[in-house]
Amino acid sequence: MIEKIAQIKEEIEKRTISDEDELEAFRLEFLSRNGKVQKMFGEMGSVPPKERATVGKAMNEVKQLAAKRFEEEKKKLESSTTREFGALDDITLPVEPTYTGSFHPLTQALDEIKQIFLRLGFNVADGPELEDDFHNFTALNFPPDHPARDMQDTFFVRKSDKKDEEDLVLRTHTSPVQIRLMKDQDPPLRSIMPGRVYRNEAVTAKSYFQFNQVEGLYLDEGVTMGELIETLVMFARLMYGADVKYRVRPSYFPFTEPSLEMDVWWESEKGGQWLEILGAGMVDPNVLTAAGVDPEKYTGFAFGMGVDRIAMLKYGIDDIRLLYENDLRFLNQFSS
Ligand code: DAH
Repeated sequence: MIEKIAQIKEEIEKRTISDEDELEAFRLEFLSRNGKVQKMFGEMGSVPPKERATVGKAMNEVKQLAAKRFEEEKKKLESSTTREFGALDDITLPVEPTYTGSFHPLTQALDEIKQIFLRLGFNVADGPELEDDFHNFTALNFPPDHPARDMQDTFFVRKSDKKDEEDLVLRTHTSPVQIRLMKDQDPPLRSIMPGRVYRNEAVTAKSYFQFNQVEGLYLDEGVTMGELIETLVMFARLMYGADVKYRVRPSYFPFTEPSLEMDVWWESEKGGQWLEILGAGMVDPNVLTAAGVDPEKYTGFAFGMGVDRIAMLKYGIDDIRLLYENDLRFLNQFSS
C-alpha cells in the first residue's frame, strides 16, 4: 500500500499542467469523488490495523499535496497574461496613441496669466457668478441710473420691488470679487480673481454673451499709481515679450480714480494697430468705504482684463464663438 501511495504522490508531482483543460483533467483524476485519492482511502479496509496509522498519515499527505498543487496551478493560470504569438503579431509595431484630450485655449491663456501674477506675488481668489446688485454695482460706485445697470446689458435673474431685497444678476464683470475680498480679509491684499462674466450683448464674431476676465487688486498702506503702472508693464512684458510696444492712457471707470487703459501694439498681416488689453486705476475711496476699508489708511490699485481677447490674439482666433462651441475639430488643434 505504501508503494501505491508513493506512486500516486509521484504522479501528482510530475503531472504537467499548462492550460485550463489539463487543470480540469488533473482535478478529475486525483481530486474528484472517483479520483485516485478517494479510491486510495477506500482501500484502507485492506490495511492491517497496526499499519493503519502510518498509512493513513501518508494518504492524508498525498491528499493535501493534490489539493495544494491544484490551487497553485489554478492561480498561475488566472494571473498569466501571456498568450501565444500568432503570425500577424508584430511586436515592433508602435502602440496606438491614446487620445488624452487637451487644455482649452482659454484655460491655457488663463494659466499663463496666473503664472505671471503668481511670480509678481499675487494669489488667486474667486467669487460667485450669480451676484447681487450691491456687489456688482452699488459698492463699485455705479450711480443708480448708470447705463451698465440697464436691462440691455445685464442679465437680471431676480428683479425685486421690495426695499430689503437685492436684485440678482449674472455678474457683468469680475470687479465684485474685489468687494468680497476686502470684506472678508484684512489688508494687505494682493490677489487676482479670474472668472466668467455675462452681458446681454448681440452675438457676433467679436462679442458674445459670456466671456472671461481676470480682476486684480493690490491693497495696502501707501500703494501708488507708479506701482500700478510698473506692475502692468511687467505683465505686458512677460505676456507679450520684453520688446512689446505699449501705451497707457487716461480713462474712466466708476470704481477707480484716476483710471487708465493699457494698449499693446499688435502687428498682423493687415498691418499694425493698438489693441486695448486692460482697464485699471486707483481704487476709488467710495469703493473702499463700501467694502469696509478705511480710505484714510489704505490705498490700492485694481485692474481688469479680458482672457478671451488674449487667447484670440495669441492663437490667431478670429471668431470668439469658437471658444464656446466646443467643436472638437477646433479644440483638437490646441493639444500639445
Ligand atoms: N470691470 C471693468 C470691465 O468689466 C474692467 C476693469 C477696469 C476692472 C478697471 C478694474 C479696473 O478693476 O480698475 O470692463
